[in-house]
Amino acid sequence: MNSSSIIVEARSLSRVVGETSIIKDFTFAFESRNIYSIIGPSGAGKSSLLRLLNRLDEPTSGEVFFSAVPATDYSPCELRCKVGYLFQTPHLFSDTVRDNFHYAKPDLTDTDINRLLQQVQVNNDLLDHKVQTLSVGQSQRVALGRLLAVEPEVLLLDEPTSALDPAYTEAIEKTIMALVEKNGLTVIVVTHHPDQALRLGGTTLLLDGGRLVEFGSSEQIINNPQTESGRKYQARQLQ
Ligand SMILES: Nc1ncnc2c1ncn2[C@@H]1O[C@H](COP(=O)(O)OP(=O)(O)O)[C@@H](O)[C@H]1O
Ligand SMILES: [Mg+2]
Repeated sequence: MNSSSIIVEARSLSRVVGETSIIKDFTFAFESRNIYSIIGPSGAGKSSLLRLLNRLDEPTSGEVFFSAVPATDYSPCELRCKVGYLFQTPHLFSDTVRDNFHYAKPDLTDTDINRLLQQVQVNNDLLDHKVQTLSVGQSQRVALGRLLAVEPEVLLLDEPTSALDPAYTEAIEKTIMALVEKNGLTVIVVTHHPDQALRLGGTTLLLDGGRLVEFGSSEQIINNPQTESGRKYQARQLQ
């Protein structure tokens, strides 16, 4: 493996909150232009891990590197432009869709915004709409488009489709795959749907009890897990 293709690297990341060890010795190198799904039972530490990768939380020990530079060497602003984070439920600001894009990048023209809306499959007619009038699905896609405005290299998505119905889920998944294939982004997505990991392809990481227990092609981890945790996870999903 060529080390220059590693974009996000976690070395022995641990996070302890109070008495609880939430993330335990997580080490993994994420390669650029790839898609990764993080799966695992509820409470496994999936969201906690994602937050550590973007310095929304700080590790108790261990380090995160972005493009081989310690994440702590970037200003928070610099890091958050390079590594975009999408929350499970969309967070939009008032007032209009256009305003949201201008918050992200004030010098965007309407043409720029329309291009971004097109990328996330939102109709340009919504540009002047107040965000309160949008559906959850539209809001989530606008939030994703707003993230893309600053041209991130990595996207961290925490269950981005959990609030969406199947049609919107499919639209977001297609958008995510196109961002990887056409725009060369690296996407790390937390999902509690193994089927979603399969549809997205790429690599899947299975977390259990704050630990990385297994990783490999999504197909293998979902359909042919090699560890006891993996088999238990698979069995629970089949119930
Ligand atoms: N800020 C926090 N303080 C205390 N415990 C937390 C905090 N955040 C998460 N946890 C605990 O850490 C564990 C992992 O949580 P989380 O990362 O949200 O899991 P997942 O996203 O896999 O469902 C859970 O047991 C949760 O209760
Ligand atoms: Mg979570």
